[in-house]
Amino acid sequence: MTGMPFSPPTHEPVIVAVTGASGAPYALRLIARLANAGVTQHLLFSDAAKIVLQQECHISLPQEAHAIPAALADALNISAEQMHSYADHDWFSPVASGSAGLPRMVIAPCSMGTLARIASGISGTLIERAADVILKESRQLILLPRETPLSTIHLENMLKLARMGAEIIPAMPGFYHRPDSIETLIDFVVDRILDHLHICNKESPRWGA
Ligand SMILES: Cc1cc2nc3c(=O)[nH]c(=O)nc-3n(C[C@H](O)[C@H](O)[C@H](O)COP(=O)(O)O)c2cc1C
Repeated sequence: MTGMPFSPPTHEPVIVAVTGASGAPYALRLIARLANAGVTQHLLFSDAAKIVLQQECHISLPQEAHAIPAALADALNISAEQMHSYADHDWFSPVASGSAGLPRMVIAPCSMGTLARIASGISGTLIERAADVILKESRQLILLPRETPLSTIHLENMLKLARMGAEIIPAMPGFYHRPDSIETLIDFVVDRILDHLHICNKESPRWGA
């Protein structure tokens, strides 16, 4: 199984897709921590993700996908060197085909719309196509869904994807580590994603440690 958090660390590349659910700060924190860990990232932003990013983080991403890594590097004070970004219908990008061999993908946050379309095999956007490829190749797909309350449609779609091997890590921070800031709450969730990606994450507070 891919979901064991304490397997040996790996620096294999990650497809990071950001959709239009609330929770853009999770995406930014994940991208920053992956960059600082030296992991190559293939970035995909839905149109709705860009709207939410502006609303929640006051960051306007450029329209041209190739300019996004530099904009993120500026905003987050990270290196753009290992970041690539693709437009929504760039079917020639490596994320669009299983033959490129990209081993893993995170969708954070994941909207209920994207979740439903992936669960139904609709590959209308590059994000949906990339997730479809990851599932058909039995590779690692991590989803960070965000909605409340959840309808039976949402729950059934999550169950369907979990049964196909997707790892569902909901945007649901715990409070038992007594967080004193929003950043600590965000890191609680991002730590779980990094654990599941087997990325060395020693600073994360551990229960019982
Ligand atoms: C500020 C804002 C917050 C939103 N929050 C959520 C949310 O938490 N969950 C969700 O499923 N959709 C949310 N939406 C709606 C989605 O953005 C919308 O369904 C969109 O079509 C999703 O497109 P995408 O899946 O291609 O990113 C939000 C929209 C906005 C503008």
